[in-house]
Amino acid sequence: MELELWVSFDERRLRGSVTFVLDPAGLRLVLDTRDLTIRRVNGRTDNFRLGARDPLLGAPLEIDLEPGERTVLIEYETSPESSGLQWLAPAQTAGKRHPFLYSQSQAIHARSWIPIQDSPRARVTFSATIHAPAPLQALMAARRVRDGCFHMPLPVPPYLMALAVGEVEFRALGARSGVWAEPPLLDAAAREFADVEKMIEAAERLYGRYRWGRFDLLVLPPSFPFGGMENPCLTFLTPTVIAGDRNLVSLIAHELAHSWSGNLVTNATWNDYWLNEGFTTYIERRIQEALYGRARSEMEMAVETGELEEELRRLPEADQKLVLELEGRDPDDGMTQVPYVKGALLLRHLEEKHGRGKWDAWLRGYFGRFAFQSVTTADFLAELERGFPGEDIREWLYRPGLPKNAPRPQYEFGTEPRRDWTTQEWLHWMRAMPEKLTVERMAELDRQWGFSRIGNSEIAAQWLLMAVRSGYEAAYERLERFLVEVGRRKYVKPLYAELAKTPQGRQQALRIYEKARPGYHPITRAAADALLG
Ligand code: BES
Ligand code: ZN
Repeated sequence: MELELWVSFDERRLRGSVTFVLDPAGLRLVLDTRDLTIRRVNGRTDNFRLGARDPLLGAPLEIDLEPGERTVLIEYETSPESSGLQWLAPAQTAGKRHPFLYSQSQAIHARSWIPIQDSPRARVTFSATIHAPAPLQALMAARRVRDGCFHMPLPVPPYLMALAVGEVEFRALGARSGVWAEPPLLDAAAREFADVEKMIEAAERLYGRYRWGRFDLLVLPPSFPFGGMENPCLTFLTPTVIAGDRNLVSLIAHELAHSWSGNLVTNATWNDYWLNEGFTTYIERRIQEALYGRARSEMEMAVETGELEEELRRLPEADQKLVLELEGRDPDDGMTQVPYVKGALLLRHLEEKHGRGKWDAWLRGYFGRFAFQSVTTADFLAELERGFPGEDIREWLYRPGLPKNAPRPQYEFGTEPRRDWTTQEWLHWMRAMPEKLTVERMAELDRQWGFSRIGNSEIAAQWLLMAVRSGYEAAYERLERFLVEVGRRKYVKPLYAELAKTPQGRQQALRIYEKARPGYHPITRAAADALLG
């Protein structure tokens, strides 16, 4: 695939072309699109049709080819509503001087900025030229050949196609790693992520050579809807991961782990999402253990397991199975703790049952055997059977809840807060409190620990949730600022949901949302729209 795109911030549009070289040739090519305008195909307007638009899947682009015609050049443009792109005004950046654009293609948003077969089964290699207005930098999840020119010689699934344009600068972290960020954030980002090279080395010792060349990080503006996105060669990150004390760097370990589980071996369908995220959460734990010791890793896993158990109490049974049933639904709905943490607990169960030596060897074999392929749960099961004949994990895959013999990560959490507590210890302590505290008790905690002024995003989000539950209005100013600035879906969604539980809170939620919505990414908007009607 070859991309050439011009970036217009005035029109909020990408305009240009994509060229596919087909192998083998055929007579009809069908691509996914959503909110794209197709101008010409191979210079003509009579050889293609856009089918009816499905709200979830978009419109199929059907192209007729001449016999032997192998090159297909599609001239097209995106729309300002394309769900895979967020166009930011200067005010939404740290620098405040220039606009910013970034893409987020997972799960099925690549089709809103490239006409493509948008399935994780359909890998492509590509080169790309991006024309961005000076002085802005264009970056892609690929090798940088020179300014604005990129090359990805390894086949990647479409959900890993990524583009960003903004005023960003680079700082090296290691020989093959570095960080891109807006200038005001660059120092803090480089300090926070100093361990990246050690993380790559630890992962390589466990699962084999890092195959993508560079591992760079890009810090995005705070509206980025996720914590991180494992775009190959260039992980995209929320700025809320920069806590100042490296307490949240497991997120870097997580996105790095995807270089094996996800980017190298990919789920073939979104129903098999646990093959991406369960493996990755498990590997994230192993990297953290290698760098910071077993206790830290267990503490993080214990917090995650608590989050899973909490979510299992609310989720319909059908969504508690590892193998998802997403037909007719938005695959973004599958992003619960189930594929992540239940998936990781399954792999840990297998590790404990068969021993680390045998299990690690099996995992290395799995990544080698399926490298650059997309696999189903059935492929995984066949490979598991080869390594561990008779192993039966059907209960994990096809039944709700956690099996009785599921591992229970243990960590002795303290009960008396200390100033030097890690983020995870604070979270555990806060979550163990009663749902509702008196306003007096909240005020006392606030005086003692300064929660309403805290910069750490995880602790702030948890505190604000407690404030809403307890009707602690002194924190509402902070709540409003937080919701207007930060667009990370994981924080935004529970806060609006909690507010919306009372009529008065709902009024408040709607008032804040009206102010915040224009700054949110389409993915976060969709979640909040659904909540608030
Ligand atoms: N690939 C995911 C992000 C994602 C999932 C984007 C589904 C779109 C659809 C990424 O690797 C991820 O899992 N991010 C987590 C952080 C992680 C430490 C649990 C997130 O953003 O919260
Ligand atoms: Zn992930």
